[in-house]
Amino acid sequence: MPSARPVAVIVLAAGEGTRMRSATPKVLHPLGGRTMLGHVLHAAEALSPEHLVVVVGHGREQVTAALTGKARAVVQETQDGTGHAVRVALDTLEHVEGTVLVVPGDAPLLTAATLQGLVDAHERTQAATTLLTAKVADPTGYGRVVRDATGVRAIVEQKDADPQTLLIDEVGTSVYAFAAGPLREALGKLTTANAQGEQYLTDVVGLHRDAGLTVGAQLADDPDETRGANDRVQLAELARLLRDRIVVAHMRAGVAVLDPQTVWIDADVTLEPDVTVAPNSQLHGRTVVRRGAVIGPDTTLTDCEVGAAATVLKSHATGAVIGEQATVGPFTYLRPGTVLGPRAKAGAYVEVKNAEVGADTKLPHLSYVGDATIGERSNVGAGTIFVNYDGHDKHRTTLGDDVRIGSNNSLVAPVTVADGAYTAAGSAITQDVPAGALAVAREKQTNINGWVARKRPGKGDVPA
Ligand code: UD1
Ligand code: CA
Repeated sequence: MPSARPVAVIVLAAGEGTRMRSATPKVLHPLGGRTMLGHVLHAAEALSPEHLVVVVGHGREQVTAALTGKARAVVQETQDGTGHAVRVALDTLEHVEGTVLVVPGDAPLLTAATLQGLVDAHERTQAATTLLTAKVADPTGYGRVVRDATGVRAIVEQKDADPQTLLIDEVGTSVYAFAAGPLREALGKLTTANAQGEQYLTDVVGLHRDAGLTVGAQLADDPDETRGANDRVQLAELARLLRDRIVVAHMRAGVAVLDPQTVWIDADVTLEPDVTVAPNSQLHGRTVVRRGAVIGPDTTLTDCEVGAAATVLKSHATGAVIGEQATVGPFTYLRPGTVLGPRAKAGAYVEVKNAEVGADTKLPHLSYVGDATIGERSNVGAGTIFVNYDGHDKHRTTLGDDVRIGSNNSLVAPVTVADGAYTAAGSAITQDVPAGALAVAREKQTNINGWVARKRPGKGDVPA
């Protein structure tokens, strides 16, 4: 049977998440480079539903602003329970028929494959409800899945359960596939006659059974996938699990991760085979690393593009493009707008911002290179500062091909040093330098002979 598309996915994200103790709504807390909700939406989008509805309540402006793709927000004014939340969403999907998938917004490890498996099982069995359940070591706090001879009978919440029911270790995950019609009917019958005075979505199970409809259950292969995060401790645990999953997938695809426990790679990072990621490195955002490049140890890259066989050692870069076979580090800081050409070098204690550096050009030591365009095969001497800021505005410096900037220069922008020109060490370059010229822009040295003997008599013997 080919994979079936759910007609709608409803994501529950209206809860407050008090235990996060945060001004940020729970579902917007990040792990692996996306918010919890971002991971859920990503998995949901992969199923290509016709409708993707996110129920928002607490922090609704922030949550709504974070929605991507086709996701649309529906406001649940008061948080009267998970059943009420689904009802609010379904009320906006009036004529929808078919399979409706419900997913909690705080279960970021759920995969598209698991959700698709649930939808497929649901459609195969023509059930009214199909639950995703999990066997967990400690079921405290979860709804317990109560079974009878013919299958799932009900879900009983922790606070409503008798001691016998509390012993059950199969729990509801808040992931369900429903047939839209029977779901609508059951939601209309929910009551608040329970320990929390809420309309429980879980009660749909019992209502469907009472109506003689089929209720199926799928036990999750990996119970970790269904875990939610209610506080920051649980969020950190999920982040570790996600890290492990991402790193293992890269290793299986040909990436050498030398110490997986100290490497963090965001979900949207792309690594080609034969990339090496050395210990204590973090790859964030939409970073892309091409074949044979070596990242780390001790390197953090965010939204960077690293070319084939480049090396980035002990450095920090954001929004930078590093050309193939370029070398960066150690102790290099690349800021947004940095573009290093093929085989270019940015060495120790070099900061680069908004600068294009041509092929084979070297910035070897102790420089600040801001707002610049530099040609090919040029060299910038140690300790050179691109003086880009006049206290009011930023200006650009242009260096041609084959330029040699002496050590300890100040290049006062706007200024151009043309092809093949040299500048003397210690120069403050304030005027353009023509091609092939040598610019010397410093005080000429004066030696005052015999000065020490005259001014400091008896201090030190001057060799004869
Ligand atoms: C729920 C289930 C429980 C299951 C557990 C799995 C119910 C009654 N219980 O319990 O059986 O084991 O999830 O994690 O469904 N939400 C809304 N609006 C509301 C209430 C909740 O959008 O009015 C959202 C929350 O933001 C959250 C999700 O629904 O994303 C689940 O709500 P939560 O309060 O966390 O339910 P649990 O008590 O964990
Ligand atoms: Ca929960």
